[in-house]
Amino acid sequence: MFERFEPLPTDPILGLSLAYKQDTNPQKVDLGVGVYKDEAGNTPVLASVTAAQSRCHELETTKAYEGPAGNDSFNSEITQLIFGADSAQLERVKTLQTPGGCGALRVAAELINRATPGATIWVSRPTWANHIPLLSSAGLKIKEYPYYDAASQSIDRQGMLDCLAKVPAGDLVLLHGCCHNPCGTDLSLDDWQQIADLANKNGFTPFVDLAYQGFGDGLEEDAQGLRLLAGAVPELVVASSCSKNFGLYRERVGALSIMGNSPVAAANTFGQMQSVARGIYSMPPSHGAALVATILTDTALRQQWEGEVAEMRVRIKQLREDLSAALAPFGDFGFIPQQRGMFSFLGLSEAQVERLKNEFSVYMVGSSRINLAGINQQNLPYLAESIGKVL
Ligand code: LMR
Repeated sequence: MFERFEPLPTDPILGLSLAYKQDTNPQKVDLGVGVYKDEAGNTPVLASVTAAQSRCHELETTKAYEGPAGNDSFNSEITQLIFGADSAQLERVKTLQTPGGCGALRVAAELINRATPGATIWVSRPTWANHIPLLSSAGLKIKEYPYYDAASQSIDRQGMLDCLAKVPAGDLVLLHGCCHNPCGTDLSLDDWQQIADLANKNGFTPFVDLAYQGFGDGLEEDAQGLRLLAGAVPELVVASSCSKNFGLYRERVGALSIMGNSPVAAANTFGQMQSVARGIYSMPPSHGAALVATILTDTALRQQWEGEVAEMRVRIKQLREDLSAALAPFGDFGFIPQQRGMFSFLGLSEAQVERLKNEFSVYMVGSSRINLAGINQQNLPYLAESIGKVL
């Protein structure tokens, strides 16, 4: 049966890591996969995570099953981190621990497909490369709304709102909560308000992917758009991830939160969420979520973690300034510091991206999406010079 399979092309993002590893050029630069790196090029285990790990190790008494919903304390803490500890919507929100943000997206897609088989979800053009396979393989239909205008390096606001004004009742609209992946250009609060108004007028359901909370302007600030929506619309879907802000990439820690139009609707939906999880992977892994719950429920650890998130955010913001200045001789890259999170589009052609890889060992996604965190003071001059040569 399996002999009918043809070789698949490598994953457009994850495939870059392998190619980078195999490159023997000592000057190689990895701006591919969205993983935070420090000035030394390492992706460290956060000190708050190391401390939580020792505590969990000491206190752990069992490896018995946790259940499809995962860790209750994690679910409650993540709900508050996303919606706000004093949110009036908390009684209408139910959160399920999932294997990473990808797990949350997939459970959400299966859940939506149970409620409305073959429902249509609108994604931004462009969106994260894995959104489309994750959502469509659960049976959802994908349509796109304009988002990033490459010519002006900003949001195509009118195009987006004109398109969303035509999205009918029953469809969903996927929004990036902050730090848009891949373009780094975020919605303003006014945009969020206009989208909330359209959702209420037309009857579509917003679906927010919040994978980078804390990497834009702050943990609270990065949730403002989502919270505005939550206060304005009857139903909301949120997929979130602890990969970046807790540095727990390989532990696969994420969450799916559903805000229903009543506490009863939310409770009934929670049963369905658990049943979907049970039918795919039964229950999520426990370790990473236990670390997050330990950090968020301990005042000192939480403070330490917030400081570490701030440190990562500040470093990336500084790199935006540094890169923009280093590229100034080759053009106007003033848009880079205006953007948020780990990613920016450099605006290079696929051919230029290929040249950067093949001739200069500089790795980025084919769309010229770069992970700013891969830059450091040592590789910046070489990087800028290489980009200058292909421009
Ligand atoms: C990225 O966009 O690079 C990250 O979210 C990693 C991934 O899984 O694609």
